[in-house]
Amino acid sequence: MSSPRKLTPQEEARLAQVRSNFQERRRISESLEGIGTRIGVYSGKGGVGKTTVATNLSVILAAQDKEVSLFDCDIDCPNVTQVLRISEGPVQNGEKLVPPSRFGVKVMSMAFFQDNEDEAIVWRGPMIHNAINQFLHSTEWGSPDYMVVDLPPGTSDAPLTVMQTLNLDGFVIVTTPHELAVLDAKRSINMIKKMNLKVFGIVENLSGGVFGTGGGQALAEEMGIPFLGALTMSADYMNSKLPASLESDEVGAEFTAISEALQAQVEASKK
Ligand SMILES: Nc1ncnc2c1ncn2[C@@H]1O[C@H](COP(=O)(O)OP(=O)(O)O)[C@@H](O)[C@H]1O
Ligand SMILES: [Mg+2]
Repeated sequence: MSSPRKLTPQEEARLAQVRSNFQERRRISESLEGIGTRIGVYSGKGGVGKTTVATNLSVILAAQDKEVSLFDCDIDCPNVTQVLRISEGPVQNGEKLVPPSRFGVKVMSMAFFQDNEDEAIVWRGPMIHNAINQFLHSTEWGSPDYMVVDLPPGTSDAPLTVMQTLNLDGFVIVTTPHELAVLDAKRSINMIKKMNLKVFGIVENLSGGVFGTGGGQALAEEMGIPFLGALTMSADYMNSKLPASLESDEVGAEFTAISEALQAQVEASKK
């Protein structure tokens, strides 16, 4: 039998690359294996209430005795930490980072690694991919029932890279009743469908204000997707020390209803 041919330097390098990709993927899946369901909160536009929904939904799930991790992955505008008023970052424990906890929710954010709050981060696809991978395997996620992810909006490179890297189980789409927002939401849903991923449902935010009401429900019917509920435009979201869902009974009731509808969809998707 002839002895195996020696690998060329190019082949050696390629093999090392494959091995390191494989090891990285294994480390990530080990780090995430305890997580029950990964839910991306997503919208076609910024400013429609993605962060509001992601944070309040997490807080309400925690109030319903679920274990929840919130991952702020809106790389251009990571502002979950501002909304929840978290000033302390994660704590190093050996090779792992232990996320801070607020209102029963463990929070990890790209903002922890920004030098300056006002700094605009311009990331390209491969950088996003690497940064998220780093986050995913170095964070001590524990075994929460849910991981809620605040995603970058739109259908550009950034949200796509994030979605592919995170391997989400499904999405909550946030829209306003306004027809342009609904159109953008539709685009986002089509993109998710093209990626063969699941939409758990649609939330209509800023409902009942100048934009009227019903756009989210109509979109849900048109696309054959569950409607999870509406959130009224309300002053309760302004300058409060607590997340609006804990501060106000009305907002709390809206989020409780959405949370229950979402959990029912998550359960149904497992069957
Ligand atoms: N239902 C609501 N009523 C009143 N203000 C709201 C409501 N939802 C969100 N807001 C406010 O609108 C602004 C944008 O919301 P945010 O969640 O940051 O949007 P996004 O993350 O999609 O960019 C925030 O100042 C937020 O407090
Ligand atoms: Mg946001």
